Amino acid sequence: MRELALNILDIAENSLAAGAKLIEITLLFSQSKDSMRISIRDDGCGMDEETLQKVTDPFTTSRTTRKVGMGLPLFKYSAESAGGSFSVASRKGEGTEVCADYRISHIDRMPLGDFGGVALQLVTMNPRVDFRFFVSDGERGGVLDTREVREVLGEEIPLDAPEVRAFLKEYIQENLVDIIGGRL
Ligand SMILES: Nc1ncnc2c1ncn2[C@@H]1O[C@H](COP(=O)(O)OP(=O)(O)OP(=O)(O)O)[C@@H](O)[C@H]1O
Ligand SMILES: [Mg+2]
Repeated sequence: MRELALNILDIAENSLAAGAKLIEITLLFSQSKDSMRISIRDDGCGMDEETLQKVTDPFTTSRTTRKVGMGLPLFKYSAESAGGSFSVASRKGEGTEVCADYRISHIDRMPLGDFGGVALQLVTMNPRVDFRFFVSDGERGGVLDTREVREVLGEEIPLDAPEVRAFLKEYIQENLVDIIGGRL
C-alpha cells in the first residue's frame, strides 16, 4: 500500500466485518510538532485478549480463504517505519480502537493519499453504518458525522442516494480535505 488512505480503508473494513454500527475516523496533525495521528474506533464485536495479543502478527486472521491477515500488520509497519508508533485496544463485545502515529517529515512516511475519496466510498458503500470523520491541524477542525446528515435528509432518503453523493462529495472536500490542504 502506498497511501495511508488505503490503510484507513482496510482498517475500516475490519470494523465493518466486526458488525460496527458507528465508525469514528480521526486525523490529527501538527506541522509545528511534526506529528500526525490516525485513529479508527468502532463499536463492533471487539476481540478477546488472545486475539488482541496476536493481532499485529501477520499470521493471525479469522479469514477462511487464506491464512494471513495483513491489514493491521501493514498499518503498524506504516507507522513504525515512519518514526511513529502503533496500538490496538479492544474489548470483546464493546469495540476496537486502532491508532497510528507518524513523523510527518520522516522520509519513509507514506503520503496520505485520497482521504476524501476513501471517506466518500465508506459512507456511500455502507449506507446503514454511521461514520464520524474528524480532521484537525491543531487550529482548524472539520467534521462529517453521518448521524447529522441523516437528520437533515430525513428517513426517506438514504446516504447512498445519487443526489446525496454529490452533496457528500462537496461536504467532504470543504470540511475535511480543505483542512488537510495537501500538506500530508
Ligand atoms: N475492528 C475489529 N474488530 C474486531 N476484530 C478485529 C478488528 N480488526 C481486526 N480484527 C481481528 O483481527 C484479525 C486480523 O485483522 P487484519 O486486518 O490484520 O487481517 P484480516 O482482516 O483477517 O485480513 P485482511 O485485512 O488481510 O483482509 C481479523 O481477522 C479479526 O479477527
Ligand atoms: Mg483486515
